[in-house]
Amino acid sequence: MNFLDIESIGAAGLSEILLYARADLDQVLLGRGVALVFEKPSLRTRNSSEMAVVSLGGHPIYITNLEVGLDSRESAEDIARSLASYHAVIAARVFDHSVLVRMARSLAGTGVPVVNLLSDRGHPCQAVADLLTMIDRFGEISGLEVSYVGDSNNVTLSLAQACLLLGAHLRIASPEGFQFDAQTRSALELMGKVEFTQDPDDAVRAADVVYTDTWTSMGQEAEAQVRRSVFSPRYQVNSKMMALAQKDAIFMHCLPAHRGEEVSEEVFESRQSVVFSQAANRLSAFRAILYAVVTT
Ligand code: CP
Ligand code: NVA
Repeated sequence: MNFLDIESIGAAGLSEILLYARADLDQVLLGRGVALVFEKPSLRTRNSSEMAVVSLGGHPIYITNLEVGLDSRESAEDIARSLASYHAVIAARVFDHSVLVRMARSLAGTGVPVVNLLSDRGHPCQAVADLLTMIDRFGEISGLEVSYVGDSNNVTLSLAQACLLLGAHLRIASPEGFQFDAQTRSALELMGKVEFTQDPDDAVRAADVVYTDTWTSMGQEAEAQVRRSVFSPRYQVNSKMMALAQKDAIFMHCLPAHRGEEVSEEVFESRQSVVFSQAANRLSAFRAILYAVVTT
């Protein structure tokens, strides 16, 4: 089973992964390798994935794009097929989601799964850690009011799909030009209760969870100034905005965060902030994902 996006994992698959995350797991990777290919920088994903592989008895190999040259030195398909002769799983962080799809296609029938470590389209490993963090705090996802404020990006899509599949209600506030396209919005609407707005205050009113992410994702650095001028100051999650949410609401961010931009220093450091629990949950999330992809 590949793990490319939350949508194709489905509610049952996702629930199973959440159970694995809190279970004692067999050493399913004993004596086996996992290739971790990174086209972009990473702190949490690299470290949690390497340690997760080790905890299941396997051997991780971290590979940067400088070495392999995805689609420049060699095609993504040929890279995947070569790596599959040494590794039980291939996980990659890429700019273009279609690279992951091509890798997975080229490995069809080999039994070697491909895992998405973040693409322009989604960040499904993060979404699993986010669900675990919400469950740690609230006990269950169903019925939670989850609000996302900021750029509708890769993190937003995986979070939205994961929350909707498990019965949370979602409100997403993004400025014009930074919202999901009509097709993505309709697909999300089919998955559950979701509202799209340009008003962040409306979105966070009575929310249990207030989530934000960077205004400028990796690969969009040239747009940083324009983006800052569009998002600032209205889309910053600050104390005034958090005061509109439930009293016991939590603040979430996948990290890295930019204090003073998408989140104020005060909220980031507040009692409500669970950002480092999210970071910690990346490890159990990835262990569970690895277990699911090698045993399914
Ligand atoms: N949240 C997350 O994926 O962090 P890194 O980019 O540091 O891996
Ligand atoms: N949206 C961000 C997430 C980083 C973990 C990015 O893609 O850069």
